[in-house]
Amino acid sequence: MNAIDPMNYEKIVFFTGAGMSAESGIPTYRGRGGVWKQYNWEEYACQDAFNDDPRKVLKFHELRRKAVLECEPHAGHHVIARLAKSHSGITVVTQNIDGMHQRAGNRNILELHGSLWRLRCPTHGIFEDIGETYERYRCEQCDAWLRPDIVWFGDSLDPEITRMSVISIAQCDLFVSIGTSGVVWPAAGYPEVARKNGAFCIEINPELNQMSHLYDESIRQTAGNALPLIFPEH
Ligand code: OAD
Repeated sequence: MNAIDPMNYEKIVFFTGAGMSAESGIPTYRGRGGVWKQYNWEEYACQDAFNDDPRKVLKFHELRRKAVLECEPHAGHHVIARLAKSHSGITVVTQNIDGMHQRAGNRNILELHGSLWRLRCPTHGIFEDIGETYERYRCEQCDAWLRPDIVWFGDSLDPEITRMSVISIAQCDLFVSIGTSGVVWPAAGYPEVARKNGAFCIEINPELNQMSHLYDESIRQTAGNALPLIFPEH
């Protein structure tokens, strides 16, 4: 595929999934070596699991935090961050909880599935917690167990994040999807929203999936290879 001049587009959405971070060394969920191949999500990533054994669930998320902190954003993350600095119409909507876009210098990421770097008290709200291990497992004010501020299986998405994401996607004229298998809803439906509203839709994914037919162009390369080629620095 030829290089794209982002200035030819008014509103661009980068829509990212776990494949975006694969070359940084963070495992995807469903591929070979994927998180849900190694761990049973029913034991680690749903409210019932947390209710049964909060310490076990928090320890699992600490393992994931440690693994992510050992990784660095790659060339593809840096391309998106550079574009966002020079083009005011760029929105990043991510399914990733790893914070890698932010570490590359991106701000205002719409995190559909929450973040590994926040905790939530049922009474006292959400706060940042960014170390390898959590500062505390229980709320300082009410002693309730703090749960990761992540959209687990069976949870609803944050309605405001969802609303802002759908508006951005419906209004964009270029939609670039990177590294998602397109099986987790409602995110799996977002390429269709972009397409129906007339955006030029590009997929970057080494593998075909059930949503691939929705794209005008499918680039069968990795995020780290494809992004610098499609959006070269001038
Ligand atoms: P998946 O693990 O389901 O899919 C990862 C996709 O990335 C696959 O289609 C791979 O082909 C592709 N891929 C692998 N390496 C790549 C690379 N280097 N460059 C580009 N693409 C690559 O991950 P998601 O689609 O993100 O939820 O999964 C969606 C949600 O399911 C996640 O957000 C997560 C999980 O349960 C939560 O964490 C709440």
